[in-house]
Amino acid sequence: MAKLKSSQDILLMRDAGQLAAKTLQYLGELVKPGISTEALDKAAYEYIKDHGAIPSPLNYRGFPKSICTSINDVICHGIPSDKEILQEGDIINIDVTVTLKEFHGDTSKTYLVGNTCPPDRLKVYNVAQESIARGIAVIEHAKRIGDIGYAIQSYAEAEGCGVVRDFVGHGIGKGFHEEPQILHYGKPNTGVKIMRGMCFTVEPMINGKDWRHRMMPDRWTAKTVDGSPSAQFEHTLAIVPGGIEILTALKGDSIMERVKELGGKVMWPNNL
Ligand code: MF3
Ligand code: CO
Ligand code: CO
Repeated sequence: MAKLKSSQDILLMRDAGQLAAKTLQYLGELVKPGISTEALDKAAYEYIKDHGAIPSPLNYRGFPKSICTSINDVICHGIPSDKEILQEGDIINIDVTVTLKEFHGDTSKTYLVGNTCPPDRLKVYNVAQESIARGIAVIEHAKRIGDIGYAIQSYAEAEGCGVVRDFVGHGIGKGFHEEPQILHYGKPNTGVKIMRGMCFTVEPMINGKDWRHRMMPDRWTAKTVDGSPSAQFEHTLAIVPGGIEILTALKGDSIMERVKELGGKVMWPNNL
């Protein structure tokens, strides 16, 4: 069963979400050819600590770093390393989760490195960005989780892409990964009912073709089986009276506008 949050809890979830978003924005400004993913990790650690929070991934089930950095054909959970240097034309997903005053905020974006990304990388970048908007746009109190997966899968597969099955969105709160699981594929009107007080992530991973992954020997890094590129965007949401708050949206984030165009009932976190 999903843990429903009180309005007091949601105040704290907003703070955690906003700090995760600000951390991600700060890291995005550092993305350039020549920087190592280790340097991004160090910058994240310092920023999060300086803001009175803890990077949730660090030591989570043995994960050794503060953020996940997933380049090109890495789907998710890439481990930052000083041996990994961003190259012109790469795409990189940076996934930030913070724990602030006991609550988690979880968000990720894919960034283009430089301005010469090849078409197959630009394709998954664009489809992943539209996928998260389509998924969020169908969320409403009393609808079901399967509606989210269906909206994402039907769109992404029509674009010729693969939707990753083996990694999913999740409830979030005092726990990093709570119930329910949010599948990014599925059938309308199936699964758990969406209720006020729920907080969960939507974080579709979109592959160029085949949806399957291949686990690397480090037991974290998941790559596409066919070497096609993969992209991901993630937000933490709260279902509140009157609509959906995107807790990890910052003023100016294009996600809000796009979800509204698609008919979604989304709102800025209240204090923005
Ligand atoms: N932030 C990831 C998510 O969206 C989880 C990372 S788990 C870690 O759920 F251990 F790899 F950090
Ligand atoms: Co997540
Ligand atoms: Co995440």
